[in-house]
Amino acid sequence: MTMPSILPRLYAIYQQAGYTPMTGYSPHLINDCMSVQFTTFLHEGDIRGDFGISLQEVQFMERLNDYLQPKNILVIGNAYGWSTIALALTFPQARVIGVDINSRGVDLTNQLIRHNKLQGIALSGRSPADMAPIIKEQLAGTIDLALIDAEHTIEAMKADFFEIQPFLSEDSLCFFHDLIGHNLVPGFLEIIKQSRKNGLILTRTTSGMGLLFRTINRPLADYLNCFADQSHSYALYHGLINHYLAANSEHRSPCDKTCPGFDLTG
Ligand SMILES: C[S@@+](CC[C@H](N)C(=O)[O-])C[C@H]1O[C@@H](n2cnc3c(N)ncnc32)[C@H](O)[C@@H]1O
Repeated sequence: MTMPSILPRLYAIYQQAGYTPMTGYSPHLINDCMSVQFTTFLHEGDIRGDFGISLQEVQFMERLNDYLQPKNILVIGNAYGWSTIALALTFPQARVIGVDINSRGVDLTNQLIRHNKLQGIALSGRSPADMAPIIKEQLAGTIDLALIDAEHTIEAMKADFFEIQPFLSEDSLCFFHDLIGHNLVPGFLEIIKQSRKNGLILTRTTSGMGLLFRTINRPLADYLNCFADQSHSYALYHGLINHYLAANSEHRSPCDKTCPGFDLTG
């Protein structure tokens, strides 16, 4: 039987602690603010958090449990724990570790993990320097699924990845948040080349996530391809949208984000 959605429990976990998740809004509907797609929290009359993965990205990730059974999961960039806790609910058999330099979010995450009896822990630490000891101690030196979502520069993202690469299991999946949104695609291409793995840019996720993998089975590839484009159709669509917007410039200026896109090879 398919597991029910994690969403009601994920929302309740934060809500009960006094943090109301605010996520998944169309920028178009809230002053064209891009950030409203991502997750923050209303707490004591203000906005808290650091733009966690969007509602749509949680929905995308949670259905991965139809295809995978990772045992050890690592999140670099825990913030207020939104993706760490979402992954702990999605993969209840796994141990999930979230790492962040911000101790306030780490403390909240651990409070939520303990209170809701989830398997995992958030740790204060700085990537890449602190990662190896954490992975050895907390995940017995093996990562089956990773989410890299810390400092959004190419250099930092590469440093995060190459530090954890030796610990990735043979069939691991490594997700990179905000690839297109933060212009990190060139760094991802370098990672694909140097790691000799396969890459997919999930152009139909909110932030334009990247995925690195060695091999994946056909059913998972079919699922992932629902969130990715063929390069040529993405480029054509992008061009046509820009053309349309330029021709109707009173509506909006053309989007300037570019992404080459990928085909699955695994
Ligand atoms: C976009 S937020 C992560 C959101 C989180 N993944 C979620 O879905 O809720 C980025 C986080 O990375 C953290 N960070 C930045 N540089 C870091 C580093 N070198 N090591 C660990 N965490 C870092 C920041 O403190 C911030 O909380």
